[in-house]
Amino acid sequence: MLTDEVLYHFKNPQHQGSIEDAEIVASVVNPACGDTLKVYVKLDGDRITDAKYKIYGCAAAVAASSVVTGMLIGKTLSEIESIKREQVSDALGGLSPTHAHTAVLAEDAVKAILRTQREKS
Ligand code: FES
Repeated sequence: MLTDEVLYHFKNPQHQGSIEDAEIVASVVNPACGDTLKVYVKLDGDRITDAKYKIYGCAAAVAASSVVTGMLIGKTLSEIESIKREQVSDALGGLSPTHAHTAVLAEDAVKAILRTQREKS
């Protein structure tokens, strides 16, 4: 069952889209279901000034993407290291076991952002 928070973010997704001149573009695929999340990050020095996403997936994946991009904006790259699946799940009202892997997809996206940036430098 989807929580009210998931339904809210599914119906009102935040930060959807792409950033043409993004410094970081990272994609992750959930091996359990194939849902795919692509995140675009705009940086000012070490700080994330904007983040957008494209998602090919279920309602809970849309909601997790909406929430996690909101968590990125305004933080430094080192600060986003602390974003974990539990925070995404909590922000969505506590995901059921059926939808818990959407929060894993969001956490994987954060890790992919950091990995992509490390590979660039
Ligand atoms: S069904 Fe797997 S993340 Fe949506």
